Amino acid sequence: MSRTARTAFLALLLAAPALVLSPGAVLPAAAAQAGVAPAASSVAKVPVAAATPSPAAAPKAPKAPTDPRNIGVLVNKQVPLKPKNYVPRGLVTVQGQRLRAEPASALKTMMKDAKRAGATLVAVSGYRSYTTQKSLFARYSRLYGAAYASRISARPGYSEHQTGLTMDVGAANGKCRLSSCFGSTKAGTWVAKNAWKYGYIVRYPRGQEKVTGYTYEPWHLRYVGKRIAAAMKKGKIPTLEAYYGRAKRS
Ligand code: DAL
Ligand code: ZN
Repeated sequence: MSRTARTAFLALLLAAPALVLSPGAVLPAAAAQAGVAPAASSVAKVPVAAATPSPAAAPKAPKAPTDPRNIGVLVNKQVPLKPKNYVPRGLVTVQGQRLRAEPASALKTMMKDAKRAGATLVAVSGYRSYTTQKSLFARYSRLYGAAYASRISARPGYSEHQTGLTMDVGAANGKCRLSSCFGSTKAGTWVAKNAWKYGYIVRYPRGQEKVTGYTYEPWHLRYVGKRIAAAMKKGKIPTLEAYYGRAKRS
């Protein structure tokens, strides 16, 4: 078996049992996106027409990139990779899992700092090809039925893992691997608090299934670069959909 096939096979084995334990999204804890207050007029005598306040311009959301080579690309249940069989160039390996070079370098720095903080992380599942994702989705459909499978797994051509910008991480001690309880472990809480500093976001937060399409995955880290990750942190923006102004109102 080739190294690639072995890696994909291991990811399958690791993912399946834990996901049985993965519950659906829990109660929402979403923070609202910060608004912008309109500037107050400092001029006392103003013409009547001008005194009528015009509606404050809504802050304009950035346009979601569609090119999968762009580190800010939006890929979700409705938005596939273009093309659907996209394969990133220049993949490198971190602990046997593949990623593009920029997120790999950020991940290594993050892992070093996490280890220093006593929250040692391991790489569990990185790049997955269209074909691997196809097998994975088919397997989950067989195990749980298509409806539940589509809440925990992307269809081929729709997975962030195919961008080479995503890594599922786990605790070195294996506690709660690929399970929602990972979010309460030392490793999981460290990641939730610190990943943004390295340009990563927890892509499927608790209580955001209506927006992201997927149940809570505290282990699924998506690299978006430091600029976007910091803007999301600062604005308390919980999802990439919300960042791009595409969060559905519930
Ligand atoms: N588990 C995530 C949604 C994926 O399959 O890409
Ligand atoms: Zn993942």
